[in-house]
Amino acid sequence: MKRGILVLADLKITIGSEVFQNPIWVASGTFGYGTEAPELVDVNRLGAIVTKSITRKPREGNPPPRIVETPSGMINSIGLANIGVKKYIQDMLPIYENLTTKIIVNIAGTDVQEYVEIMEMMESVSSVIAGYEINISCPNVKKGGMEFGVDCDMTAKLTEKLRILTERLLIMKLSPNVSDIVSIGLSAENAGADAVSAINTVVGMSIDAESGSSNIFTTYGGLSGPAIKPVGLAMVHKLYNKLSIPIIGMGGIVNTDDVVEYMMAGSTAVQVGTANYRDPGIGEDIIDSLDSFINQTNRKSATDLIGSVRTLS
Ligand SMILES: Cc1cc2nc3c(=O)[nH]c(=O)nc-3n(C[C@H](O)[C@H](O)[C@H](O)COP(=O)(O)O)c2cc1C
Repeated sequence: MKRGILVLADLKITIGSEVFQNPIWVASGTFGYGTEAPELVDVNRLGAIVTKSITRKPREGNPPPRIVETPSGMINSIGLANIGVKKYIQDMLPIYENLTTKIIVNIAGTDVQEYVEIMEMMESVSSVIAGYEINISCPNVKKGGMEFGVDCDMTAKLTEKLRILTERLLIMKLSPNVSDIVSIGLSAENAGADAVSAINTVVGMSIDAESGSSNIFTTYGGLSGPAIKPVGLAMVHKLYNKLSIPIIGMGGIVNTDDVVEYMMAGSTAVQVGTANYRDPGIGEDIIDSLDSFINQTNRKSATDLIGSVRTLS
């Protein structure tokens, strides 16, 4: 049996020129390419699917162990394993023709040229994708990734280059592993980004006391799940206070209250990540209960929540 499909409240949100049927998206790296969801999950109900990061060449990622459970979360060091842009275009884009949900392609690269080439290849073929999320915040690769997202000039330069190449949505995905996320966000905004998304994973480490060994091959990995929700909320709120473009919030979302809190902090949309590993249908459940929340609290639409938190000082 499919999950519930009765949606009454106005859950629509707009980012740039794109209208999304609801603000609940699934996060990069936690929902594959959007084509592998189990039978019982109706992906067309999601606001959007963000694909795992695509690189120019196929990547096997880091050696195992590359995932470990931690208190209220997990650490991963997948290292951007993916099939590469050529095969992605060949195999995945045709499947999207049959989907009605919006597809956001997440791109990663080791230098500006790699990001540019991937986007040029994507733009050279006709496809139904709604936009791009640019991963400038991956903590699990030696070169590129987070290098861009911790530096204002590099963020601006990359955003500018990509902006010229596409009229589709351009979303820059920010790292929490910085001292000042707002200045990185402003660099993206001033260089033409339509939105920023935050947060990627928080650098973390896990050790086995008995063996004395690291639990992750690369020593450090990216912490995700409920453990990082307070970090994500603070970063979204700081960005909301200073940026004019929409913010897509994420980090530890597992239920509707989490979504409401992220929207109150300033998110226009949110992404559900690690929670998909426990239940790939969680996005649908959250859509249904967000609908009830909006109705029960006498709000007209989901957009009423955005930035509505009452701070005490
Ligand atoms: C196993 C795993 C793989 C991920 N892979 C990617 C990726 O390829 N690209 C990316 O931008 N973010 C990636 N992320 C980060 C998530 O998209 C998200 O930013 C982060 O996990 C915080 O959300 P969450 O706490 O709900 O998981 C990955 C996260 C996990 C747990």
